[in-house]
Amino acid sequence: MIVGMDKSDPGIAQGLQGVYFTESKISDVDGVNGKLYYRGYSIESLAKNSTFEEVCYLLVEGKLPSRREFLGFDRQLRSERQIPKPILGIIDEMTGRAHPMDVLRTAISALPAYDKDAYVETREENLRKSISLISKFGSITAAIGRRMSAKKYVRPDQSLSHAANFLYMLNGKKPTEKQAKVLDLMLILHAEHSSNASTFSTLVTGSTLADLYAAITAGVATLKGPLHGGADEAALKMMREIGEPENTERYIEDALGKREKIMGFGHRVYKTYDPRARIIRSTLEELQKSSSPEVRKLTEIALREEKMMIEKLGKSRGIWPNVDLFSGPVYTSIGIAPDLFTPLFAVSRIPGWCAHMLEYWEHDRLLRPLESYTGPLDIRYVPIGKRS
Ligand code: ACO
Repeated sequence: MIVGMDKSDPGIAQGLQGVYFTESKISDVDGVNGKLYYRGYSIESLAKNSTFEEVCYLLVEGKLPSRREFLGFDRQLRSERQIPKPILGIIDEMTGRAHPMDVLRTAISALPAYDKDAYVETREENLRKSISLISKFGSITAAIGRRMSAKKYVRPDQSLSHAANFLYMLNGKKPTEKQAKVLDLMLILHAEHSSNASTFSTLVTGSTLADLYAAITAGVATLKGPLHGGADEAALKMMREIGEPENTERYIEDALGKREKIMGFGHRVYKTYDPRARIIRSTLEELQKSSSPEVRKLTEIALREEKMMIEKLGKSRGIWPNVDLFSGPVYTSIGIAPDLFTPLFAVSRIPGWCAHMLEYWEHDRLLRPLESYTGPLDIRYVPIGKRS
């Protein structure tokens, strides 16, 4: 019998927990030991030594580039930053009426209209589209942020790195080296994470042989939710509700008493400290000395949340800090508004989505799981006029 066709014993894995659906060489998430690798390189070594642009190359091409390869790739990334004018119109029209993630999703879904080879499905073309998408996610998100603060669009500056250009387009002035470096690190840490919900959703859409733009649009839609990419915004909102550091313990106690989730904690795969959270935590500690009173307060709240949650739910339930706990204070320290956190997550995750899509298309198989139907059968049809 074909696996899964035995209806009497469907063996349901709720939320697909623990189910392997394919093989991949892109990243390894070791949820027991708290390790993360992109293409075999530990996240700690990439965070320390690499740049977002190089990590993008690593993810989509499968290896670190030579200097010549890197220069060609980086040149292409820089040259793709311009946003088509009608897309700027969409951003202008929607910003303020819809969540920035909805604006980003709509803008991305409109891109094929301005790409004459949008539906050419060769690996080379999909690689070109990937580079264009990586580049445009940054520009589009910066343009949304700019519009949110009612400021005029800033054209990209090709002389700047991806992170520096994002901050320049967002703030209208060139960032300091330190600000650009902090953002670059955050982009690296969020660039890829195996078959998380948004990557899986990208693959489900792409597995039907819908084009790359369609698949990525599905990824953006999925990232929005507060159980996934939206958690960093939700975690910061929670910190703001806590207000003062000394309220932290009582707030958490009350929330847990009401069986509410504490944002920035827990993970489907990590049952230990998320290695990305560890790196972001130490970055935040370094930033402390020069940061604003607001960031210092948020940091103190996050650290008190961390201590209490580890004591209460860490070892006993495997609910530990995740990547989103300390991200909010870090983004705040470089002047990024909470509404933009999740779109910025998409700016980071786009190379991971593209890498997975390119890899999956090498051996495409339609993703189509089963549901075990538990409703009634053979009910007699009653015409509408005769129903009580
Ligand atoms: N705070 C309090 N309790 C929690 C938390 C949390 N953050 N996370 C899980 N739990 C509890 C649940 O209430 C549940 O308890 P129960 O068994 O008594 O009902 C149990 O742990 C299992 O939780 P699930 O949500 O079923 O487990 P899942 O594997 O689906 O959890 C998830 C993963 C969705 C991320 C969850 O931990 C969560 O909602 N966390 C808060 C949101 C968040 O920070 N998301 C970001 C994840 S990282 C990312 O996507 C980038």
